[in-house]
Amino acid sequence: MTEPPDSRPYGAGPPPPAGEIQAPSKVTAPGIRARKGSGRPILALTAYDSPTARLVDEAGFDLILVGDSMANVVLGHATTLKITLDQIISATRAVKRAVDRPLVVSDMPFGSYHTGVRDTLVNAVRLVREGGAQAVKLEGGRSRAELVRELVRAEIPVLGHIGLLPQSYHSAGGYRVQGRTAESARALLEDAQALEDAGAFAVVLEGVPAPVAAAITARISIPTIGIGAGPGCDGQILVFHDVVGFTTAPPPKFVRRYADLAGVVREALGRLAADIRAGAFPGPEECYSFRGELPAEWRDEAPAARPDPRP
Ligand code: KIV
Repeated sequence: MTEPPDSRPYGAGPPPPAGEIQAPSKVTAPGIRARKGSGRPILALTAYDSPTARLVDEAGFDLILVGDSMANVVLGHATTLKITLDQIISATRAVKRAVDRPLVVSDMPFGSYHTGVRDTLVNAVRLVREGGAQAVKLEGGRSRAELVRELVRAEIPVLGHIGLLPQSYHSAGGYRVQGRTAESARALLEDAQALEDAGAFAVVLEGVPAPVAAAITARISIPTIGIGAGPGCDGQILVFHDVVGFTTAPPPKFVRRYADLAGVVREALGRLAADIRAGAFPGPEECYSFRGELPAEWRDEAPAARPDPRP
């Protein structure tokens, strides 16, 4: 009898029993917009790859952001500025392949909406057509309102983003919490209202004092999704790697860690390395069976020493 071929792709589990999967209603941009005032907080998280996106979906999150934070937490850059449109498109495709229910929003990376309306539209269309994004996010308030209006006119839903703007790292002289004075808080509200008027379906508030974020939330008709903006927003978004501790950097102040994946991985890799060194991996159960007989001339031969490849 021949062994059945192991045809499952890596990482694929056994197929779910028939009838167990119910197709949940997909979250849409208008659906997120309609959550304002519903009392049901919007749950949002970043993801940049298929397995992570699948787990975020399974956990019941409403929105997945393929954020340019991928530049920091996955690609090792010091800022978000170096990530390209093609990299975000590729990550969006991976996320879209894995998810069923959440709205998938792609970040417009630095440079993809800074050179005019036409470039912005062309680049956003690529995120939708090539990546499969259902909406895009871009940073800035009043200064970006016209771009948001054009995107919405082109049938591309937009998630706004105001407050601390990582893409303004150079012009702002670093990462700066916004809205700490009455004047700055008023400016933030004007930014949020400009995005609302331009047709954004929701707005991310990043790095904003909690009372200011709550006041803005109460004064606009689209949902606010906070990150470092306190509990008074209509939803919360965080960077996946920060939440599960899959990073070697200390977390920002506003992050609550729910796992220590770096610790889990360190411990697992340490044990694998020790097993390989000790000859304990792989064991018989991790080897394929061989049913024939080894060639006769191999049986008596001592294995030839392999040359040491090191210089
Ligand atoms: O890129 C990102 O992860 C973001 C969130 C911090 C909102 O923009």
